[in-house]
Amino acid sequence: MRTHYCGNVNATHIGQEVELCGWVHRRRDHGGVIFIDLRDREGLVQVVYDPDLPAVFKIAEQIRNEFVVAVRGRVRARPEGSVNADLASGEIEVLGQGLEVLNPAETPPFQLDEYEKASEEIRLRYRYIDLRRPEMLARIRTRAEITRVMRNYLDANGFLDIETPMLTKATPEGARDYLVPSRTHPGKFFALPQSPQLFKQLLMMSGMDRYYQIVRCFRDEDLRADRQPEFTQLDVETSFLDEEQFAGLMEEMIRQVVKSVCGDELPNPFPRMTYQEAVRRFGSDRPDLRCPLELVDVGDLMKEVDFKVFSGAANDKDGRVAALRLPNGCDLTRKELDAYANYVAIYGARGLAYIKVNTVGAGRDGLQSPILKFLPDGVINTILERTAAVDGDLIFFGADRARVVNESLGALRVKLGEDRGLLEPGWHPLWVVDFPMFEWDAHGNRWTALHHPFTAPKVDHEALLDTDPGACESRAYDMVLNGMELGGGSIRIHRKPLQEKVFRLLGIGSEEAEEKFGFLLNALRYGCPPHGGLAFGLDRLVMLLTHAASIREVMAFPKTQTAACLLTSAPSDVSIDQLRELSIRVRLPQTDKG
Ligand code: AMO
Ligand code: AMP
Repeated sequence: MRTHYCGNVNATHIGQEVELCGWVHRRRDHGGVIFIDLRDREGLVQVVYDPDLPAVFKIAEQIRNEFVVAVRGRVRARPEGSVNADLASGEIEVLGQGLEVLNPAETPPFQLDEYEKASEEIRLRYRYIDLRRPEMLARIRTRAEITRVMRNYLDANGFLDIETPMLTKATPEGARDYLVPSRTHPGKFFALPQSPQLFKQLLMMSGMDRYYQIVRCFRDEDLRADRQPEFTQLDVETSFLDEEQFAGLMEEMIRQVVKSVCGDELPNPFPRMTYQEAVRRFGSDRPDLRCPLELVDVGDLMKEVDFKVFSGAANDKDGRVAALRLPNGCDLTRKELDAYANYVAIYGARGLAYIKVNTVGAGRDGLQSPILKFLPDGVINTILERTAAVDGDLIFFGADRARVVNESLGALRVKLGEDRGLLEPGWHPLWVVDFPMFEWDAHGNRWTALHHPFTAPKVDHEALLDTDPGACESRAYDMVLNGMELGGGSIRIHRKPLQEKVFRLLGIGSEEAEEKFGFLLNALRYGCPPHGGLAFGLDRLVMLLTHAASIREVMAFPKTQTAACLLTSAPSDVSIDQLRELSIRVRLPQTDKG
């Protein structure tokens, strides 16, 4: 039926007869001559029909956009002046000799070249049409290239591709589980994996040594631009390697991926930064190093000041007062400042104080600020010194619980970087290391694992588990690229007593540990090698490397922000019979009948 892809026909085929199949991208009637832009996966080619062949011409007159057609014709050079440099096939056209409509199409719900006017809802509902657009196709191709490079690299380094179950038991990664009822065990449920974490550890215990899997994970959590309920990890686990050896292996893979996809070189090695430093300087454990702005602590200066908001946070052991200098920020208008204050409010900040530094050397008179009256000269001078402010700068302040200050100023620095064109171009990867083992959950009055409960403490911190768990650091590491957490992992606990101790610290009693993780504890008894690994968020990596605005743009069939599939209308009702078979009765909340 076909001799070539449309997009691959070029000047080397001039004079040849070709058979092409594809979609009618556009049809133009030019007074007696009909032009068809024929499209397939590889691109477009122009086909010309003239009235010399009346039967064929008649068909050409009837076809419409998105008809699927088969074309026979002869390749010829385009006449002088009509060469299209934007098109790979732009030097040639096909003089049509045959035309068959394989399938007509109704008018599509949106024009492929005018999709920007189409809402995302329409695009998702008709995803199979949306995917015909070259931008979408390019991203899907890049995705395939990325997994190809990964597979090649991992194969070359002795990793085995091993599948793990989808119908399984809950693995805690901090989200809600998607549950699947069991028919054969009434009232019991499988959980879809939040990750293959425990299976990959078991594979190390089996001696597989190096495992990988490109694997779907399921997490029922609040969605954002970079989160989906169902997403893909490149999941990796290795035995007998320490952090440095393992990080080296993974870095090299990412270098090869970026080189292949973008042609860019990443640093070798990636810089390392401790969690503490990342949070102190950037307010975030996934700092965007493209942005030069940094948080500066000023809490020690604010303990005595007459502004309760600042002195309160400065004297609170969980508080933080930090400054963020924006070079040349004096030109920000009242309106812009208000907009930034509203922006940080999203992160819980209750205000956004600032000082405009008109003239550094002029003391108070050179400054402009609603909080100036609260600050003694000495404090002001030290702030200017510490932030290295110069004429024309603006200094923002955040004062609150440390978490609020970090999240709000951390987000503000990136936003300012974007708004003010301060982001350096290129790729800025790093490893964030030395995470704390635990976070205190004040709400639940207990420790929670910062990574997951299977992460090993640093060897020389093990004693802290008994004395000061909050100070205990773990052997976890995150790979961060341009402010996005690409992947995370850790060296694992491989000895049973230590695993039991960590469970206890997390408030998982021995009975619960046995019930939930008994199989793991058992396995630890029968020869478990030291092991560790990580998982990359594949969708996020593709999103970054293709500069896509959301994770949905790099998945063929993503879900909406409310975790629904508009294409298939899932989730949906099921029949009473199905429910009965599963011993399930549905009780909808009173307020929500849908
Ligand atoms: P973690 O929970 O950090 O680690 O997940 C690894 C990576 O997966 C990506 N990711 C997501 N991507 C899209 N949508 C989501 N909802 C989503 N959640 C996570 C992120 C993240 O860095 N088992 C451990 C890994 C290990 O310890 O080996 C794990 O799953 O890019
Ligand atoms: P007020 O006295 O409440 O008008 O606040 C004076 C200035 O401090 C305003 O610019 C507020 O935006 C700012 N501000 C209030 N609370 C905070 C806070 N928690 N962190 C930083 N700035 C704040």
